[in-house]
Amino acid sequence: MKFYLLGYPVGHSVSPPMHNAAFNELGMSHEYSSLGVEPSKLAEIISTRIRADEFGGGSVTIPHKIEMLRLVDELDESAEMAGAVNTLQWKDGVLTGYNTDATGGVRALIESYGDISQTNTVLLGAGGAANALAAQLKPRVKELTILNRTEEKARALAERIGTNFGSIIRDQALIESADIIVNATSVGMHPNVGESPIDKKYLHDGQMVFDIVYNPQKTQIMLDAEEAEGRSLGGLWMLVYQGVEAFEIWTGVRPSAQTMYDAAKMALLERH
Ligand SMILES: NC(=O)c1ccc[n+]([C@@H]2O[C@H](COP(=O)([O-])OP(=O)(O)OC[C@H]3O[C@@H](n4cnc5c(N)ncnc54)[C@H](OP(=O)(O)O)[C@@H]3O)[C@@H](O)[C@H]2O)c1
Repeated sequence: MKFYLLGYPVGHSVSPPMHNAAFNELGMSHEYSSLGVEPSKLAEIISTRIRADEFGGGSVTIPHKIEMLRLVDELDESAEMAGAVNTLQWKDGVLTGYNTDATGGVRALIESYGDISQTNTVLLGAGGAANALAAQLKPRVKELTILNRTEEKARALAERIGTNFGSIIRDQALIESADIIVNATSVGMHPNVGESPIDKKYLHDGQMVFDIVYNPQKTQIMLDAEEAEGRSLGGLWMLVYQGVEAFEIWTGVRPSAQTMYDAAKMALLERH
């Protein structure tokens, strides 16, 4: 069967090597490939290439994650909570939208940090990824604060899930009392390496910075956390776990996360 990554542009995604490595290891003759779809063509592609016998499932990335909400037949609770679709399943003539981004991200965080239930967590950003993560983090941590450049977006997100918010510029000092800082802004992502959304003077030992950006694998905010003798986690494991969960939805089989991590890491290295 065929599996696609729908996005625009999708040229350099590491998802095809990551999923194909798992298909190969499990002896499955499926094929996962990128399908660049302009926004104006998305609905047409859904009816011609996705609602097709040969299609098994797929992933959805920028800029289609929100538009996909209205193009599927059914929405899983995970997509409703996230307000976006990142995974498609085509089964028995029904197209279902899921979201595995945030559950994958929280899983990566807990595997690295341990028990997060007593933590004061600050989430930087209020875009698509932050919205999805906030809904998963809120019931799992003691306190969650959302800081964003556009404060109105932080307020809207905080009100939706019932938590605190502020400005990433004016209220940065709040980071000092955080146990975990999650960066869900795009600051520091390739090619803007060397940039951080916060001043490093607020970072100290005992804290963990989880940056969901995975290119580069060590972002500036992660380097700053390590310099302050804190811990850091990059976004590659989040990418892998969202893929592991999607793979399970499509096939009913749990793939090796390590195999997918190794393939994604290799693909990232080959890109530069
Ligand atoms: N590891 C993974 O699996 C994974 C999954 C999803 C996303 N990601 C990564 O997460 C990042 C965010 O993705 P997204 O889909 O949420 O993007 P998005 O919806 O465009 O949101 C971008 C966020 O970054 C903030 N931002 C952008 N430039 C900024 C700046 N110069 N200073 C301060 N804040 C700034 C925006 O603030 P405003 O609201 O003020 O514009 C907004 O909160 C991307 O780097 C993406 O690659 C990783």
